[in-house]
Amino acid sequence: MAFKLDSVVPWGRTLEEYKLMFRLDDEDMLKTFAGFGDGPACFNYEMTERNGSVISFDPIYQFSKEDIEKRIEEVRVIVMQQMRENMDNYVWENIKSLDELENIRMSAMKKFLSDYEKGKAEGRYVFHELPNRLPYEEDHFDIGLSSHFLLMYTSLGYDFHIAAMSEMLRVCKEIRIFPIVDLDANKTDLINNVIGFFKKDYTVQTVKTDYEFQKGDNKLLIIRK
Ligand SMILES: C[S@@+](CC[C@H](N)C(=O)[O-])C[C@H]1O[C@@H](n2cnc3c(N)ncnc32)[C@H](O)[C@@H]1O
Repeated sequence: MAFKLDSVVPWGRTLEEYKLMFRLDDEDMLKTFAGFGDGPACFNYEMTERNGSVISFDPIYQFSKEDIEKRIEEVRVIVMQQMRENMDNYVWENIKSLDELENIRMSAMKKFLSDYEKGKAEGRYVFHELPNRLPYEEDHFDIGLSSHFLLMYTSLGYDFHIAAMSEMLRVCKEIRIFPIVDLDANKTDLINNVIGFFKKDYTVQTVKTDYEFQKGDNKLLIIRK
């Protein structure tokens, strides 16, 4: 089935948020990253500014800057309305209000948009849909990341997750996934089963992070070879 932009909710996070979610320390920051489902996050932009190495993969990168910008504007109203209705499900400590949240997200996505065409020309934003095979050899990247994509959308199913994470683990020495709950912040059977599958052949760790915005979303999954 063709990937449709109007089925995506582009909502981008910052480098600071990626550092907290994925517990990236100074040593990690020197490594090579693959960002899966990075969408309109400004992690790639901000890392590139610091001479870091990130390639972001996402099906939305098949669309033009104008199309993505239009979709972000459509989604902004809907997401902010949902946030207003569900404020009690969030921890308002680092981000203190709805206005601040909207400013942080919109500023992150503006940075992404300003970098998008340059980054595409430089091969930093690559149109790719998991679980398709990537054109890289084994262990090409040090760390593969997935923020607010894998394990969250449980409707993608067990087989999708096994195939997608296996391909990530083929091209990355380790992968980190945040959060380890579904969209309602529940730990599901699917998540337990996927983790159980990788425990057979890999070192699997669940680590607490300093990032908790949706209540209960404060754990990171690390899978190493
Ligand atoms: C909620 S956004 C998260 C964006 C970013 N990681 C962040 O946390 O700010 C989820 C992203 O997953 C992407 N996505 C959806 N299906 C995908 C697939 N099969 N392979 C890779 N990315 C996918 C979407 O296009 C979207 O950009």
